[in-house]
Amino acid sequence: SPLRAPSHQALTVRSLLNTTAEEREKILEDVEYNIFSFPAGLVICDFLSDSGTSAMTDVQWAAMIRGDESYGRNWGYYCLLEAFRDVFERGNARQHAFQSILTGTATVEFYKNNLLKAHEGGFVNGGINQLEDPNFFILPQGRCAEFLLFSTLRGMIAESQQGTASGTPIVISNGFFDTTGANASAAGFVLETFTQPGLTDPFPEELIGKRNLFKGNLDVDATEAFLDEHAGQVALILMTITNNWAAAQPVSMANIRAAAELAKRKEIPLFFDACRFAENALFIQDFETGYSDKSIPEIVQEMFSYVDGFTISLKKDGLSNMGGVLCFRDKSLFAERHKGIGSHLKERQILLYGNDSYGGMSGRDLMTCVVGLYEVTKENYLHNRVLQVRSFAQKLLANNISVLSPPGGHAVYLDMDNFFYGCDRSPGDFAAVGFTLELLKEYGIRAAESGPFGWQWDKKSPEEQKKIPNLVRFAVPRHVMSDEHINYTVGAIKKLHDRRHAMPNVKITRGKDMRLRHFACGMKP
Ligand code: F0G
Repeated sequence: SPLRAPSHQALTVRSLLNTTAEEREKILEDVEYNIFSFPAGLVICDFLSDSGTSAMTDVQWAAMIRGDESYGRNWGYYCLLEAFRDVFERGNARQHAFQSILTGTATVEFYKNNLLKAHEGGFVNGGINQLEDPNFFILPQGRCAEFLLFSTLRGMIAESQQGTASGTPIVISNGFFDTTGANASAAGFVLETFTQPGLTDPFPEELIGKRNLFKGNLDVDATEAFLDEHAGQVALILMTITNNWAAAQPVSMANIRAAAELAKRKEIPLFFDACRFAENALFIQDFETGYSDKSIPEIVQEMFSYVDGFTISLKKDGLSNMGGVLCFRDKSLFAERHKGIGSHLKERQILLYGNDSYGGMSGRDLMTCVVGLYEVTKENYLHNRVLQVRSFAQKLLANNISVLSPPGGHAVYLDMDNFFYGCDRSPGDFAAVGFTLELLKEYGIRAAESGPFGWQWDKKSPEEQKKIPNLVRFAVPRHVMSDEHINYTVGAIKKLHDRRHAMPNVKITRGKDMRLRHFACGMKP
């Protein structure tokens, strides 16, 4: 493959503490073998999550100093509104808000003619109008946006259904992230997942980087068949881009378009869970016919033109350490069907998180999100980001370690059925958790099981069990890891693979029945 020039350089570094396997083993015991509870300061390579773990750019740090901590209408609020209009509706056409705030050149005229203007017809009607019929909500992170959306929506549906026999409302997705699914079901929705079949099907190694099957797609035919039976019951179709449930796999523009067409025909609102929208756009540019000449901002603009609204965690493709948003088009099926939902959402946003102009965020953090949205849509950055993940996967394959292929956007997933081939392990043994414990103990590398344990195989019907892939996820933080980290990790995985028969099975000793148990239960190898 052609040589690619680096996209960035490091200006600040952090030294790591050198710990021994014996020390880490003792601490693992102390934290009941729950990797989420293991102190990060003792980890050497942390692949637990790509969320909030990014190193920010110097422009983001500069913007942070320009954060405004006023209680009412801090200027970061206007910048974020403008950044959302710019990135998700206009193809990054303007960038003027943050630039004038960053350089301290915003005048009264600038406020009057730009920041305070109403903008009807989009995700941010904003400006002065945001007072009355808001459709844009700032929140501390993605799951708060999910909570606010699902709990408010469920309340409104319950009210409108009073006295009718309409049945429990349903949300359909190509793949729910764990907090998303938990928030929707805690609010009282039934979840239906229709991922395109074939996630774990083999993919020829020589085609990695040359072709992509968009394994994160929504199974539109299965969705339609389901809707034929239950259309009246379905409240929302939620497309996760990229599909974190399905191993960080991207979703094609054709699939988004088909889903939008189906949603329109069946009169069901379509939303994105848009956490990794920029990485998804890069896959479309790289692999989908008709998009190689389009810029990332143009692709993003088209993707979002098909949806009624979205939730987003700015901790991923906002390149920030904190932040989230819920927004929906003011002129959309969703807004029309749930008239007045904006004021309910706003009231609950204020009660739970803070006033609408900061939503639980500091003004400084708001500014990092504003700049992050522009930084993350730069092609040079995105290429290097996705290529780093791809090269991690290719190095593993070169060492005969099976990974889910083609590699997705933000993480590499080990295929644990293949890893343990011939070792006689069943899903309920949670041997993949045993592997992550050995990896942390022996090498100080933290990765997370994303299989029978994480997706609660032991509590599912046989039909549902069949859909659960047996994976371990190595999520790669943005701008943090070098080739040295990747090479060390590949070497460590290889050593554990060589003695895979000795990986322990794992038992849950405490908290087996908690929702989202992986964050808090106790275990024992
Ligand atoms: N949706 C998706 C697809 C996610 O991946 C996440 C978080 C969320 C929603 C929730 O956002 O963390 O800001 O509340 N994913 C992280 C991960 C935690 O490691 O995959 P949040």
